[in-house]
Amino acid sequence: MARYRIAWMPGDGIGVDVLDATRLVLDRLDLDAEYIPADIGWKFWCQEGDPLPQRTLDIMKETDCAMFGAITSKGKDVADKELAPELQGKGLSYRSPIVRMRQLLDLYICLRPCKAYPGNPLNYREGIDLVVFRENTEGMYIGVEYERVPEEFYAAPGMAKVPRDAAISLRAITPGGSERIVRAAFEYARTHGRKKVTAVHKANVLRQTDGVFMAAARKVAAEYPDIPFDDANIDAMGMWLLKNPLNYDVIVTTNLFGDIISDLCAQMVGGLGFGCSGNIGKTYAVFEPTHGSAPKYAGQYKVNPIASILAARMMLEWLGEKDLAAQVEGAVATVLAEGQVRTYDMGGSASTLDMARAIAERL
Ligand code: NAI
Ligand code: MG
Repeated sequence: MARYRIAWMPGDGIGVDVLDATRLVLDRLDLDAEYIPADIGWKFWCQEGDPLPQRTLDIMKETDCAMFGAITSKGKDVADKELAPELQGKGLSYRSPIVRMRQLLDLYICLRPCKAYPGNPLNYREGIDLVVFRENTEGMYIGVEYERVPEEFYAAPGMAKVPRDAAISLRAITPGGSERIVRAAFEYARTHGRKKVTAVHKANVLRQTDGVFMAAARKVAAEYPDIPFDDANIDAMGMWLLKNPLNYDVIVTTNLFGDIISDLCAQMVGGLGFGCSGNIGKTYAVFEPTHGSAPKYAGQYKVNPIASILAARMMLEWLGEKDLAAQVEGAVATVLAEGQVRTYDMGGSASTLDMARAIAERL
């Protein structure tokens, strides 16, 4: 049996294109790995009523980690219509397989490194090298929403001011959930020689939930006196990041703020063709480019595979294959610095596989 068993989940649209490209790179490495194909995505919702079938979860249980491409998801009306006729009327409702995967496997860290590689014409500024730690299992993504406030809620103090026709979403922040994401950020800062950790919140308005988050952040920060710690409001952070991106290093925050701020950071280093992420738990992790399935480019092998290849780099590092991870990053950096091979988003005409081959050749 191979040393590593990796679930291979291309998903929909360009998920297939970029994972094919990523394999060209991985297959060049001296990595004893077996890749086990696993089904995820829109097709399986339509055919089976489940975009994340049980057999895929079973494969995840017996592999070390997963590489995931992207999925298509659509609104409720379309989802109901595209479901196979024999499955309609059975009360099935679409739920994001990504959010489900994160919650089922307790992948509590969403790690998103954002680095401006020299030579990338899309860099907002040279020298940006940020890492975002987004809490991945709670916050605004617990999926508890009401179209109308349940009547019994009005018994609680303060509820009288909530209009009767309001829809509400609940935000859950626990001390434990906050502590473990902040600790992950500090551990990363220490092991990677990072200069500071910044906690991002809106504690002046969300006093209870971000109060819990910031209390946990301060408690954990005190355990790492060697690493400078500061904090910022989410709105101010948006401005500061654009003004002085080099002032920040490791950013840690709750789920929704992390979703937003990590897209901002990704755009500063090249956007969707460069944004990669790891969904990481105690014993399992899923690595992915952060872009979606881009249906208009599906199967054209036109999009930039670097996001996905950098996600594979993260996977190698997580597996403990630090040298191989460094080789992949070095090869990506070389191709970008040379500036000869560029996909359309960078103003070039190289295909997805041209880019992957160029990177593979520089390993
Ligand atoms: P998208 O990320 O799929 O694409 C938006 C646009 O960004 C594309 O049309 C393309 O111009 C550009 N782009 C994306 N990836 C690129 C790459 N690797 N290289 C160069 N350019 C790239 O977002 P969109 O169009 O909003 O969503 C399409 C589908 O993907 C939807 O069904 C959506 O729900 C889903 N989605 C899935 C995600 C995931 O699987 N993690 C994340 C975001 C969206
Ligand atoms: Mg997002």
